[in-house]
Amino acid sequence: MMDRILEPELMDDPAQVDAYAAMDFSAENQGFVERFKEYFPEFSEGKVLDLGCGPADIPIRFAKLYPICQVLGIDASAPMIQLGEQAVKQAGLADRVTLRCERYEEVAGARIVDAVMSNSLLHHLPNPLQFWQKLRQLVRPGAPVLVMDLLRPESPEAAQTIVDRYAAGAPDILRRDFYNSLLAAFTEDEVTTQLARMNLTRLLIDIPDDRHWVVGGIVY
Ligand SMILES: C[S@@+](CC[C@H](N)C(=O)[O-])C[C@H]1O[C@@H](n2cnc3c(N)ncnc32)[C@H](O)[C@@H]1O
Repeated sequence: MMDRILEPELMDDPAQVDAYAAMDFSAENQGFVERFKEYFPEFSEGKVLDLGCGPADIPIRFAKLYPICQVLGIDASAPMIQLGEQAVKQAGLADRVTLRCERYEEVAGARIVDAVMSNSLLHHLPNPLQFWQKLRQLVRPGAPVLVMDLLRPESPEAAQTIVDRYAAGAPDILRRDFYNSLLAAFTEDEVTTQLARMNLTRLLIDIPDDRHWVVGGIVY
């Protein structure tokens, strides 16, 4: 198994951000919010935090699926937040979806939200334990948590095969990012170890397909 190779933490190169935001992730992102509903059928209201929200497609889909929730999205990339704000306004959801340009490490307070979600952030982070610790600090006891990310393949060749299979027609800049993200991602064992070290063993990991892991559960 190859070692993890970190990629740049923030996505703040304007060309990279434009290419990412122009990509159609509708099936993945809708799948993410529907998975939240499937995991937590009782959940219906409150303040929901999206860590590393990017161009806010997931906060928007979440707010549509949960019409009485407030969603707060944070991302440390100014161009991502700028595009996200346009999208939120266009969707007519500015009263329920708030975005902030902020590093997740710097989100202040404790027990301030009723649920946390995060898609495709963890592989950007040099210190994953800090992420799980922060997540636990921010949620109220009994809060649902859903975190999803890429799974690191066995080898650079296997990563290239995944890029060729799932991003065949994508622009080069996105294919490069996807490849680098796969190399920076964690394995199932690494995520399981992170959860055990942070005493978050109520959160369970699942491998829904050949390139993702998903962690879900209630945090007390
Ligand atoms: C691959 S994108 C995922 C965006 C979105 N969640 C989605 O599913 O489309 C990862 C995002 O995490 C952001 N990010 C990376 N490190 C961060 C940090 N320390 N705090 C906040 N955001 C961060 C990047 O700027 C980028 O927008």
